[in-house]
Amino acid sequence: MVRVAVFASGNGSNYEAIMMYTAALADPGYEISLVVCDQPQAGVIARALRWRTPVFVVERRRFATKEAFEQQILARLRKDRIDFVALAGYMRLIGPTLLQEYYGRMINLHPSLLPAFPGLDAVGQALKAGARVTGVTVHYVDAGMDTGPIIAQQAVPIDGDDDHDSLSRKIHEVEHELYPRIVRQCALGEIILDQGQVRKPGSQR
Ligand code: GAR
Repeated sequence: MVRVAVFASGNGSNYEAIMMYTAALADPGYEISLVVCDQPQAGVIARALRWRTPVFVVERRRFATKEAFEQQILARLRKDRIDFVALAGYMRLIGPTLLQEYYGRMINLHPSLLPAFPGLDAVGQALKAGARVTGVTVHYVDAGMDTGPIIAQQAVPIDGDDDHDSLSRKIHEVEHELYPRIVRQCALGEIILDQGQVRKPGSQR
């Protein structure tokens, strides 16, 4: 059984979408074994308790350095024998401590068509830019801010009367449909990162 950790800082609707998708599979071959959360008030914690996923709450401010913070996370990932990490609204840059161990085994979800609108509030950035289309990207995590190799993207049209709430809702709908499928494929090795290239073994490329 492949053991997956989900990292989240907020509401956790994508975590829950992954749980629902996985629960509906007859023989998933992976399980969500841990939630790592850096915000003690985050909604994802209550969701994880309902699904009976163990939660590791770890606050950055309790550590002098980012390295010490990530060492603490890494120790827990090792203890729980975590094979694969899916970031789902985890609002911190991943540092070298975690990357060294999980590069190629850690993916992120971002609410824009990268490389457009990286970083914070991608929905607000798209609205402010007057974009007619934005979307969702799933990519491998590297040392940059939302810069790693892209695995999947899906567009979301922006209507003239969209505001932050309505556009966020549309983006979340697409995320909830897309991300759980990609998490499954990457966790099971149906999609892999091979010398910096995203490959789907068995498919012609
Ligand atoms: C999602 O829209 C995700 O794409 C975004 O945070 C939201 C989390 O929602 N992630 C980022 O902006 C990362 N740069 P959720 O807590 O309801 O899953």
